[in-house]
Amino acid sequence: MAIRQIRKIGDSILKKTSKEIKEMTPRISTLIDDMLETMYNANGVGLAAPQVGILKRLVVIDVSENGDQPIVLINPVIEEAQGEQTGDEGCLSVPGKAGTVTRPNYVKVRALDRNMQPIELEGSELLARAFCHEIDHLDGVLYVEKVEGELKSSDSEA
Ligand code: NI
Repeated sequence: MAIRQIRKIGDSILKKTSKEIKEMTPRISTLIDDMLETMYNANGVGLAAPQVGILKRLVVIDVSENGDQPIVLINPVIEEAQGEQTGDEGCLSVPGKAGTVTRPNYVKVRALDRNMQPIELEGSELLARAFCHEIDHLDGVLYVEKVEGELKSSDSEA
């Protein structure tokens, strides 16, 4: 495993649309491990492949307190969204900043796991926010485009 370099806002790759993953390969398996290591190393709760320069529809998330509940989503799609939450959000590609974003309070996501098996996951609150934020990355969207009001300085990143 290796820590990968996280692309920062202003890097044009963050605005591009990622491509679906058709099959698991040793390269993608290594990418998943590296993305998890990179996310934990940066104290983030989520990371999308374009953030490490790879335009593939792959995200990793861990919103658990101890960082021991990794979620790997390949080709994730939001199937259902309910309710609303408004709160602060950050991004490892936008270091030192946070901003208020309104997201669904509950989402259901369909994806493939790292064995390319279909999975369906539900999340509310922080996990719902993470699903939406990370899936946005796959479509070249950064949360800063959705911020209500000003971007603030912050030490907490997601
Ligand atoms: Ni992000």
